[in-house]
Formats: sequence, C-alpha cells, structure tokens
Amino acid sequence: MRILFLTHSFNSLTQRLYAELSARGHEVSIEFDINDAVAEQAVELFRPDLIVAPYLRRAIPECIWSRHVCLIVHPGIVGDRGPSALDWAIQEGEAEWGVTVLQAEAEMDAGPVWASAAFPMRRGSKASLYRNEATEAAAQALVEAVTKFAAGGKPTPLAESRGRGRLRPLMRQADRAIDWRRDSSETILRKIDAADGFPGVADELFGEPCHLFDAWPEAIVSRGDTPPGAIIGRRETALLRATADGAVWIGHAKRKDGVKLPATVAFAEESAKLPELPLDGWWAASYATWQDIRYEEAAIGENAVGFLHFDFYNGAMGTAQCGRLRAAFEWARSRTTRVLVLMGGADFWSNGIHLNLIEQAEGDNCGPADESWANINAIDDLAEAILRCDDKLTVAAVRGNAGAGGCFLARAADQVWVRDGVMLNPHYKNMGNLYGSEFWTYLLPPRVGAEGAAAIMRQRLPMTARQAVAQGFYDACLAGDHAAFRVDVARRAAELVAAPDFETTLRDKRTRRAADEAAKPLAAWRAEELDRMRRNFYGFDPSYHVARWHFVRKTPASWTPRHLARHRDLGWKIPD
Ligand code: COA
Repeated sequence: MRILFLTHSFNSLTQRLYAELSARGHEVSIEFDINDAVAEQAVELFRPDLIVAPYLRRAIPECIWSRHVCLIVHPGIVGDRGPSALDWAIQEGEAEWGVTVLQAEAEMDAGPVWASAAFPMRRGSKASLYRNEATEAAAQALVEAVTKFAAGGKPTPLAESRGRGRLRPLMRQADRAIDWRRDSSETILRKIDAADGFPGVADELFGEPCHLFDAWPEAIVSRGDTPPGAIIGRRETALLRATADGAVWIGHAKRKDGVKLPATVAFAEESAKLPELPLDGWWAASYATWQDIRYEEAAIGENAVGFLHFDFYNGAMGTAQCGRLRAAFEWARSRTTRVLVLMGGADFWSNGIHLNLIEQAEGDNCGPADESWANINAIDDLAEAILRCDDKLTVAAVRGNAGAGGCFLARAADQVWVRDGVMLNPHYKNMGNLYGSEFWTYLLPPRVGAEGAAAIMRQRLPMTARQAVAQGFYDACLAGDHAAFRVDVARRAAELVAAPDFETTLRDKRTRRAADEAAKPLAAWRAEELDRMRRNFYGFDPSYHVARWHFVRKTPASWTPRHLARHRDLGWKIPD
C-alpha cells in the first residue's frame, strides 16, 4: 500500500514505524504537519491508500479524515483520550499502560479502535517510556491495524471496545507543581518523570524560576538539617536537593528563555559554591544514586569482563563528559580483564557532541564554534583511545538509539552488538551539512564499501538494527527486550573471553591496526576529517550554526525535507 505519514516530526517513534511498514513492502512517504493546506496537498500528490499519524500535536483536518482512513497512534490505553496520556499515567502511578491505534473522527481520540497493545509501567521518564515500551507497543499495534485494514477488516467502535481509559485534560503546570515541604522523594521523582523531556516541571533553583528535568533517586544521603527544597550539594553535572523525606538528584534545568542544560551548567556560579559529593572512583555504586559513568566486572572462570556504562542525558556528550569517559575507559583498561564492553546508556548509546552545551557557550575565545571544536576533539580523543586499545577486545553494546557521531563512536570498538528495535541515524548532514568526524572515513568503508558509505551519508535516513547488521556496519543484532539483551551481551562476552583462539584474535587485531597505521596513520584520518569540520564551524557557510540553533530551540519545521517527502520528488509518479 501507499501509506502517508502525517507527523509533527520524524522522531524516533515515527522512524521505527516507518521502518516496520517499509520492511513489510509498503511505500511510505512523510509529510510534516505544517498546516491544513500542505497536508491536503500531500494527500493530493501521493493519493495514499492509508494515512497514519504517528505523532501529531493537533487534529487532522476534516477534509482529509472524512475522505481517507486516517490511523492515529495514541500513547494511551483503549478509551484514554487527551494530549497528556503518558504524563497522567506516570504521575498517577498506573501499573500497566498501552498504545491504541484508532481512526480519526470529529472528536479527538474518540474514533473506532483498530488495534491496541499493552505494556507494564516502570520507573522512568516519560521520554524513556515513550522511546522504549510505547514505541514497541506502537509498532505492534500499528502493524496489526495495517494488516487488518489491508485485509478489508473493520475497527471496533470505541463504545464497544471496553477500554478502561477516559478523557483527561491537558496536564498543566499546576498539576505538576512540587510542594517541596511536603512531597516525598517518590512523589517528586514521579512528577519530574511525568514531565521529562517536555515540558519539565516549573519550579525554582537558587531563587530563579526554571524548569526541572532528569530526576534520580538518592538512597543514602539523608537531608540532615537541610530544609526540604534546599540544595545539599553537587556531583559533576547534577544537584542534590532535599525533600520532605530524603533527597533527589536534579540532572537538568532550563532557565527562562534558555535551553535545557545540565543543572550545574544552567546555574554555574551558584553550583560552584556547593560542596562536591563525589563517588568513590568509577565502580558502580551499590545503592540508588546519580552516577552517569559506572563500571562493573563479571568473573568468567579465570578471566573477567568489564562493563562500562555511560548514561548521559539524551545521549549528548559534551567536552567534559568525553574527557571523563576517556579517563574511565583508560582506568577500565588498566584492569586485568580481557574484554571490555561499552554499554552506553539505556535510552541512548550516544548522539555525538552536545549541541545544547555548544549553543550556550559564551565568553572570551569561547563561542559555539570554539566549543564545537573542543567537543569534536574530545570525542575524537575518546574514539582514538578505543581504537588504540591493543590489550583487550572491545565491544560496543548498543542497547539505546544512537545518532550521528555516536553511531561511529560505537564502530571504534572491535565488535558492535545492537539491540533489535534500536534506531540508528549514522549520518551528519541533517545538522547543517556537517562533514562529521569520529574516524568515520576510516571505519565505515571497510565495513560497507566506499559506495555504501557514501550512500549512508547521502540518504540521511534512519537505519534499523537489522539493517545495520545486514549491511555489515554492525556485527550482531541481539534480543529486543532490554533484560534479554543484557543477558545476551553477558553470554556473548563470556564466550569471547573464554574462546580458545582469544590470543590469536587479539594478535590479529594488533597486526591489523599496525598495518593500517603504516598505510595511513590515525592522525592523518583525523586531521582530514577535522579540516572539513573546521570549515563547518569557522567557515563562511553558517548552515551548521543555523541548524543547531533551530535544533536546540525545537523550532517547528516549515517544510518537509525532500528525502522524507517522496511524493514531492520531481520524478515521483503514482504507480499504475
Ligand atoms: N546534543 C544535545 N541534545 C541532543 C542531541 C545532541 N547531540 N541529540 C539529541 N538531543 C536531544 C534532543 O534535543 C531532545 O531533547 P529533549 O529532551 O529536550 O526533547 C532529546 O535529545 C531527544 O531527541 P529527539 O530528536 O527527540 O530524539 P529522537 O530519538 O527522535 O531522534 C536523533 C534522535 C539522533 C535523530 C536526533 O536527536 C538528532 O538528530 N540529534 C542530533 C545528532 C547530531 O547531529 N549530533 C551532532 C553531530 S555528532
């Protein structure tokens, strides 16, 4: 079928649904929801058999839904209606939630139901639940709905579908407000989770209004004499704040008219005066706390495997974070393990350089161009450290999505194992035609060929985990379920470390690296890439700075990129 996606943006959920339907042979084209006239024009051009709205912020115009079947992907259980579905589910502690695919009609979210899928809730931010459980459920329900539609099936009227959901209003800041004197840590975590990544909880830090994001529990620090609501201390980029019954960590904040930033950067002067609350080295703490980089080890017979986790908010890796991660990597190298697994974070493995930190960089000799330069060098240093690791085998275990430089940073490891369902965006051009670095020019062609590499960069389309492995970009696609993926990774790492030919494999790796270095040193690959990046950052073409400005401020799209809106291709014709 020809399926038109009408969507607010090409976010990870939309990408996943696009991949699922394309893989089933459907021709999918995308139009961003700019205004009614543009949507009508897209329908006219593409003449779709079916319209799908994976992520819309307003109603589909009547002239479209009255003439075409339009399927809405609603992140709520059957019967749930309203724009804050997941927000309410988290804040009210629902044990189970779901996604419903319903048909658009005059009343929002009240059309007949084509399919639905349920999932158990867990503690986590709205964005995390959306990217993981809700995305899996949406993929399952949409495929079911599309299959049913193709077979001439009919949806079930909402009144007959016996859902327990109900109409909920938009969640307002008054519903989200934290009462620091009375609210327990658990209540505060839930409120911030329900508002994360957008819109955050309107609150204050150091007497300044701001929005709070990225909350973490703290199990052992009690608030002592500190009154609830006061800041106890800081750790790297996070602030510890007293609650009525303990304390919680606040990882990110957005000041009025500012962009979302690590909390200690958003309030740099104030945070600098706070006591630092360090952890003891890189070892994973045995209790709940804020720890962005943590190391674990598993003994396998006489050998051991190291697991290095780096859970950076939104997968964005700033200059200091790259530096700390490199220090942690070098420390992990000094352990007597034979295999080191780079685990990334649960939601993202890495999305490359930190565009928000770059955007806010200011001062003498330190504007966004300088910070971009510092950041790309810091991430390249990290990639180079991984590439030069010659006494262990390294594995990147990509369990969360990865984008741009993050995809190539993973490739710096000897093996890349990716969780089924992960969405990858291994290209840079969407960010104002960035050339990219992280040694992609060295790493990509041997895996996918020179033409394959050029195609990946040129197409600017997402890649599924399976496609990445089929193309040879990554090495293995493992279980889709997070827990099963971790078990799979541990099992494979154990096999790797215990393999009888381990020493030969390691020797081959050294030989290959030495031959590569003799043919063309890493320094030369890096210098060539950075030469192009320097032009992106400091040259007269401001595309990257403009694209970044819009990206961090989330400027709504004013047109759909041509590589997504295939119906707008000049040569595109409705097939006979
Ligand atoms: N720096 C800072 N923030 C980033 C980021 C980066 N490199 N990549 C993603 N984010 C943030 C987004 O702004 C968004 O923030 P929010 O919490 O305020 O909503 C959040 O991460 C999730 O991103 P989103 O775009 O909604 O996620 P997605 O899963 O739908 O899309 C990508 C993933 C990778 C396609 C998209 O985020 C992207 O293009 N990122 C930029 C990658 C890049 O160009 N990096 C620089 C070159 S190395």
